[in-house]
Amino acid sequence: MIERIADSSVEEATGLVPAGVAAQIKQVKQDSPVSVQADQPEDNELENSLRPTDFKSYIGQQRLKKNLKLAIDAARKRSEPLDHVLLYGPPGLGKTTMANVIANEMGAQIRITSGPAIERAGDLASMLTNLGEGDVLFIDEIHRLNRTVEEVLYSAMEDFKLDIILGKGPSARSLRLDVPKFTLIGATTRAGALAAPLRDRFGITHRLEFYTDEEMQQVIERAAGILNAQIKPEAARQLAERSRLTPRIANRLLKRVRDYADINGDGIIDTIISRKALELLEVDSLGLDPADRMILAAIIDSYNGGPVGIETIAALTAEERSTIEDFIEPYLMQMGLLERTPRGRRVTHKAYKHLGKPTPTV
Ligand code: ADE
Repeated sequence: MIERIADSSVEEATGLVPAGVAAQIKQVKQDSPVSVQADQPEDNELENSLRPTDFKSYIGQQRLKKNLKLAIDAARKRSEPLDHVLLYGPPGLGKTTMANVIANEMGAQIRITSGPAIERAGDLASMLTNLGEGDVLFIDEIHRLNRTVEEVLYSAMEDFKLDIILGKGPSARSLRLDVPKFTLIGATTRAGALAAPLRDRFGITHRLEFYTDEEMQQVIERAAGILNAQIKPEAARQLAERSRLTPRIANRLLKRVRDYADINGDGIIDTIISRKALELLEVDSLGLDPADRMILAAIIDSYNGGPVGIETIAALTAEERSTIEDFIEPYLMQMGLLERTPRGRRVTHKAYKHLGKPTPTV
């Protein structure tokens, strides 16, 4: 879970945040019940039980599935491993799920790790040498690999060789080891942060897109079926429209709405129950949570709607720049509430209207 409750006094002291606002922001973050970032153990378990395992049950991402299916069929026909795959895009859209689906469709084993977990070249070397022929190595947050590890990965990806340096100084020797022919699947929220030589070594690169409302409704109805929750189609639609076009959020909201229905009703989720539950969770009609609204309101109230630089927004809202860039603003932009300009971020008229604030006349 990425959580940074900033010390409000720092921002207040810099003068970037109006007195009292930072404290308010801190409160909002502590109270926020649903967030893209939040990763609790129960959520992980839930997520795993709901993950589709093949292309047939994976809803949405049609273009990606079409391209991958073709590449997988061709690789299988030639009895070769699949080319290395890079998946990028906002969190919660199914990059890890897709990696599992790919391995399953290839009939391969998958080994899952993440950029920050591989600290030394030796860690990577032992992982690679323990793979079987045709296996998939999935590296989440691949943009967070350190340089030394990254360089070892180059030759492994390209020639299935590992170049290891043994010893130090004049007596150092280099050793070339064979590694099994494997498929690397890398996932990142920011393809731009990847070093070009690494990016260029992926034969298949795809961005995961936000889902449509119709796809989200299907994801929710499928999850409800697995969880044995009864949900009316109109309620599934309402939940779909408030789930940030993101399956991970939809699954979390569904679970909490189901709790509400079990305690305050007869367990059946209709639009009345789901609206009340969502109100309790402070998720509004566009799926924004308190942190989203706070960012938009801060730009409007302190910078006249912008444009304002990302660093200033970060200081103003006591959020990390990367949290805003990776987790918060992609959805705000997708919904047409925030724009990126050469001079910084600017809120749109739609954002003023949504927050019930008078639109500027100039
Ligand atoms: N659960 C999470 N993501 C999903 C998807 N793309 N399709 C079906 N179920 C999902």
